[in-house]
Amino acid sequence: TFILGIEGTAWNLSAAIVTETEIIAEVTETYKPEKGGIHPREAAQHHAKYAASVVKKLLAEAKEKGVEPSDIDGIAFSQGPGLGPCLRTVATAARMLSLSLGIPLIGVNHCIAHIEIGIWRTPAKDPVVLYVSGANSQVISYMEGRYRVFGETLDIGLGNALDKFARGAGLSHPGGPKIEACAKDAKQYIHLPYVIKGMDLSFSGLSTAASEALKKASLEDVCYSYQETAFAMVVEVAERALAHTGKKEVLLAGGVGANTRLREMLTTMCEARGAKFYVPEKRFMGDNGTMIAYTGLLMYKSGNTLSIEASRVNPSFRTDDVEVTWIKEEDM
Ligand code: ATP
Ligand code: FE2
Repeated sequence: TFILGIEGTAWNLSAAIVTETEIIAEVTETYKPEKGGIHPREAAQHHAKYAASVVKKLLAEAKEKGVEPSDIDGIAFSQGPGLGPCLRTVATAARMLSLSLGIPLIGVNHCIAHIEIGIWRTPAKDPVVLYVSGANSQVISYMEGRYRVFGETLDIGLGNALDKFARGAGLSHPGGPKIEACAKDAKQYIHLPYVIKGMDLSFSGLSTAASEALKKASLEDVCYSYQETAFAMVVEVAERALAHTGKKEVLLAGGVGANTRLREMLTTMCEARGAKFYVPEKRFMGDNGTMIAYTGLLMYKSGNTLSIEASRVNPSFRTDDVEVTWIKEEDM
């Protein structure tokens, strides 16, 4: 089976062709704003501008590997969650491809794609997933036909919270890696609010308190303390999900997963609980076309395709809205 998938929920326009076992090709064009954060309309214009050339390049690379457009069985696209204008642009490109090749459309939930790519590219089978990216922060695990959200942010995603604090502190975008670098030179921990409500998380107060703390403490100390606090929060929720589900694996997903300190804390927690900790290769952690194509392939093979009429995008598409047709209970 060959599936072509297109990702474009935010910054990255990325398309890939995969089979059950192989990535045939992947082509990415990243939108980089002049300065500051992402402008949804500009990002969508970027995706519209590059959609044709990205697909053309992808098909050319596939051809070199002996894969023709007529070999492709389905077109997967990121249906949500994400920025409305970006989603609509990518969906339009996917519909055109689906119509011109006469093959079905597959609407993929972006968060679930982050999970499935991790399961594909690591030995994880049935993990508790910590998904921490710019816009999203969720602790997720499969249970009875759905990926259930055990806990999630009640306000902004951890990546955006880090970026917001960093911007205020004069660090350039994206802030996450700069905060990580600064934290290495810290001398002491300063108190910041640790906010967990039930199993849910909140980061916006933490960003505000950290910005406030800069008046009295060094940037290094605040960056370090921010990381220690925010990461302890997400690790606590992941640990509680492990305890609750009795599962024995943790999978890290999303751009914030690049952080070494976060990985270290998860490793320690998993060791203490006798669980295995898995992180996919860096290229599969941020947004990529391969994860959409691969999840699309799983969906296609379980008969989960869309008519053009049903292919509307959903900017607030939830992880637990998706009926997971491709996992068989007896395989778990
Ligand atoms: P999504 O649509 O899934 O929310 P996104 O495009 O907003 O995705 P990703 O590409 O998954 O996000 O991740 C980007 C985020 O990861 C940014 O907020 C960035 O600051 C953060 N990030 C990247 N590297 C690091 C790091 N080393 N430490 C902490 N955060 C990091
Ligand atoms: Fe993402």
